[in-house]
Amino acid sequence: MKHVRAALSSVEITILVEECAGFTELLAEHGFSALVSLNYDNEEAYRIIIDTGRTGRTLLENARALRVELKDVDVVVLSHRHYDHTGGLPKLVDVLKGKPLIAHPAITRPCLRVSRGFTKLDVGLPLEARKALDEFNVVMVREPLELAPGAWFLGEIERFYDNSYAVKDFRTVVNGKVVEEPMHDDSGLVIKIEDKAVVLAGCSHSGIPNIARHAKRVTKVDKLVIIGGLHLIAAEDGVVEGVVDQMLSEGVEEVHVGHCTGLRGEVKLLEKLKGRMNKIHSGYKLEIRW
Ligand SMILES: [Fe+2]
Ligand SMILES: [Fe+2]
Repeated sequence: MKHVRAALSSVEITILVEECAGFTELLAEHGFSALVSLNYDNEEAYRIIIDTGRTGRTLLENARALRVELKDVDVVVLSHRHYDHTGGLPKLVDVLKGKPLIAHPAITRPCLRVSRGFTKLDVGLPLEARKALDEFNVVMVREPLELAPGAWFLGEIERFYDNSYAVKDFRTVVNGKVVEEPMHDDSGLVIKIEDKAVVLAGCSHSGIPNIARHAKRVTKVDKLVIIGGLHLIAAEDGVVEGVVDQMLSEGVEEVHVGHCTGLRGEVKLLEKLKGRMNKIHSGYKLEIRW
């Protein structure tokens, strides 16, 4: 019997945790989490949760209010190690124990953040989230990994463009030495939809133009929609403008952004993309059907 590969028939992306709750009665917190529901032409469905927010409380409460059945999630993906993306993991153990969890191998490295002379000792995976990893079927991978037809974990992002603005102030410890932290674990998801691809990025510490180019190589398409945080929040004006130009030259046609994008990044994107720039919030939905 010949097995026919299922083809996507619709994609729904729901933001579960974000800094802003928009015109809803949902909760907001510093952090990011999204649910991706993939529906196939053979009636099969596949659900990915990317990131968990900071506390897990917002994630569970918003999922309940939005009638999202977390127990139906097939896989958990962590975009990178920061506490505002991984802190909610312990609260998912009860519902998703034993399910696969995909991340880059550097996800467990310490991440120090220096701010105004103070060193925050670890803004990486919180202790409880580190323990919670043992409750999942963890797959650490550097290469792109196709999770379901048309949907990939991006793996390690090659840096074609300078991303120093997005890793500024981060340090790690290697063999007892404090070194700059390149955030090689910063990855994301991509979903190929006909001649376009939708990229979900958590914080884009790899640099969103790099993530865009990498996603095009994985999917072999050249038009992109970006969803998530772009970490332009602390970048200087000239850098913000340069990054937005690089995004456009990499084929980014539409964005749905928030979290660490920052107001100046959002304004620049609005100026360049007009109606194709959208601001996300808890409960924000993007549906693609064909
Ligand atoms: Fe973040
Ligand atoms: Fe981050």
